[in-house]
Amino acid sequence: MKTEHVITTVSTEEVSSHPRETGHWSQNWRRNTFRAVKNRWQSGKSSCNPVEQVENHKKYATTGVGNKPNGKSQHKRFMNASELISQTNIVEHDLTKGFPYTALVHEELQHYSQIEITDELTEGGIHAHKSWRFYFEYLQMNEFGTSFVEEVVAAVHQKKNPLLLSLGCGYGGLDLAIARRLQKPYQIFGVDLNPMIFSHAHRRAMLEGLEIVYLPIDLNFVELQPGSFDVIYAHASLHHLLNLEHVFAQIARALTPDGLFVLVDIIGKTQVLFWRQNVEFTAELIKDMPWRFRPPVRRLWRHFWFDPYTIISKYSEPAVQHGMEGIRQEEIEPVMMKIFEPVKLYKYNAFMRLICTNRYLGARLNPEKLRDREYLEKLIKIEVEQIKSGKLKPTEMFGVFKPKSA
Ligand SMILES: C[S@@+](CC[C@H](N)C(=O)[O-])C[C@H]1O[C@@H](n2cnc3c(N)ncnc32)[C@H](O)[C@@H]1O
Repeated sequence: MKTEHVITTVSTEEVSSHPRETGHWSQNWRRNTFRAVKNRWQSGKSSCNPVEQVENHKKYATTGVGNKPNGKSQHKRFMNASELISQTNIVEHDLTKGFPYTALVHEELQHYSQIEITDELTEGGIHAHKSWRFYFEYLQMNEFGTSFVEEVVAAVHQKKNPLLLSLGCGYGGLDLAIARRLQKPYQIFGVDLNPMIFSHAHRRAMLEGLEIVYLPIDLNFVELQPGSFDVIYAHASLHHLLNLEHVFAQIARALTPDGLFVLVDIIGKTQVLFWRQNVEFTAELIKDMPWRFRPPVRRLWRHFWFDPYTIISKYSEPAVQHGMEGIRQEEIEPVMMKIFEPVKLYKYNAFMRLICTNRYLGARLNPEKLRDREYLEKLIKIEVEQIKSGKLKPTEMFGVFKPKSA
């Protein structure tokens, strides 16, 4: 794996051969995006014909990075991407050596190449349940008073020609949302292990004229140019990494002197995510849930002796590591805090994931219905209280960090 660490841009062939390209989702998306660009062009808001724009951008993507395709402007601080982001074989504590790393990478690539995604290019499936979205909106409004995108945008506010780096960008929906909020000139780099995963975002960025360059990079071996980025952000990706010490050291040195690191990540129990007490607490909650949320039962007595483990899985000790999911997640916070200090920090999710992404419950709890919304709010308040009192451990964190001064 390490010998293959080269930096490339996604080629047009790679992009168009993506399996998702043949699906309805993609056809709808392509039609809608094209229509949006065409409307902008016809209304005079966009300076160039969308067909030409796509062709220009395709050429740009296959021939190099750095210059805008129409040649009008060049980002002042944007050198060649490979000068800013590359890969190294020299990692002081290389933990990949203790794992069947090639097999893990293979599994990771396969998993994220098959995943269902939403129109906004975020993770779909159980993660698209309305109750799960409601949970985050509630936290943003009532607990954080901010959001991930807000914090990234705020971090580069009033900076001239900011450079942004997105680590483990995935499908790229967040990078697009951030780019749409920024004033040009700016430059976002999105890096991910999986070169196929950001192909849609890459196309959308080109069509909308957003300044995002996507690169395939293995973060376990990333090497970043010191003092380069105004903000580095990572959303739910670092819990897939082994070389955390190396990655955090790279992030700290790659930030500009007043640069910030914005992070959302999983910090739950390594491999299994939830601790025993979190699962058992959730089971008790489910037992007490109103009947309307329970699965239908043939025999009435089953309502009275309802077993919550027919809905959620029992706690089991970590056994075999599958892919890279949660491989060192418990260590993220302690490793990071050795070299970073928080500007803002929130910890959450002691059990709401178990309910909102549950195949049965997550879909049934509909925040559009007042009764369900009130019930969800009640659960969130219980969770906040449990975390505050230290009775249950949180499994996720959201924070803005700066490197500790030497
Ligand atoms: C849960 S997804 C998050 C994607 C995106 N940030 C989001 O929130 O929608 C985790 C991402 O981490 C990427 N990833 C896993 N291991 C990686 C590595 N060693 N280097 C770079 N990216 C990696 C995966 O390919 C995947 O896109």
